[in-house]
Amino acid sequence: MTVIAKDLTDPRAPEEIFQQLEAANQTVGVLVNNAAFGTCGMFTDTDWKVYAEMIQLNIASLTRLTSLFLPAMVQNRDGRVLNVASLGAFLPSPLAAVYFASKAYVLSFSQALANELQGTGVTVTCLCPGPTNTNFQKRAGMENTKVFQSNVLSASQVAKAGLCAMKRGKPLVLPGFRTALLAFITRFLPRKVLPLIMRNSLEQVRK
Ligand SMILES: NC(=O)c1ccc[n+]([C@@H]2O[C@H](COP(=O)([O-])OP(=O)(O)OC[C@H]3O[C@@H](n4cnc5c(N)ncnc54)[C@H](OP(=O)(O)O)[C@@H]3O)[C@@H](O)[C@H]2O)c1
Repeated sequence: MTVIAKDLTDPRAPEEIFQQLEAANQTVGVLVNNAAFGTCGMFTDTDWKVYAEMIQLNIASLTRLTSLFLPAMVQNRDGRVLNVASLGAFLPSPLAAVYFASKAYVLSFSQALANELQGTGVTVTCLCPGPTNTNFQKRAGMENTKVFQSNVLSASQVAKAGLCAMKRGKPLVLPGFRTALLAFITRFLPRKVLPLIMRNSLEQVRK
């Protein structure tokens, strides 16, 4: 196994990874775009540098890695791409506006690409987890928000659902009944109600 450690907020990182693997004659049959981070707070209270890094990591690097590794998969008529979005991809969210918008991009991009790749032997799966017990919420400052107080899945539950869907070539997977139900309900709510729900969910819980 080859391990390449890179900071994917650096725009040069995807090409560097690709070139290193090419130089080592390594074929990539599975691409998992998992790396991302979020923040919690008013848009105007966070430094632009943080958003620039978030957009580079959550959107630009994911897209560039896909563009680098996909052509060979299509040529070989074999390959799997797993993009990690979020239940938040379905919801415009005050207090985490850029993060949730970045996940809406991942969902939209993945579903569109899955359609383009039909019949090529290559599939794209978009994994949309709800709250999951990882380091994410601590880094994002969401630990004490209402979202993370109950119905939090384990990382292994989410990873298993993602891998299983990816192997089967499913375009979308929402791990857990509650996550699937919440995503389904968003279809029937007026657009203006969604930010109200999310604003309430991302309020800090008083302890
Ligand atoms: N946890 C949740 O509630 C939740 C819900 C919905 C969606 N998600 C999504 O799930 C995915 C995994 O997040 P997680 O929950 O496992 O959070 P996490 O514990 O914070 O893990 C984040 C992952 O991203 C990597 N990463 C972060 N910044 C990076 C950078 N600059 N360059 C390269 N890699 C970087 C980290 O690598 P290192 O370990 O090397 O730092 C780690 O593997 C993310 O896409 C996240 O948006 C999480």
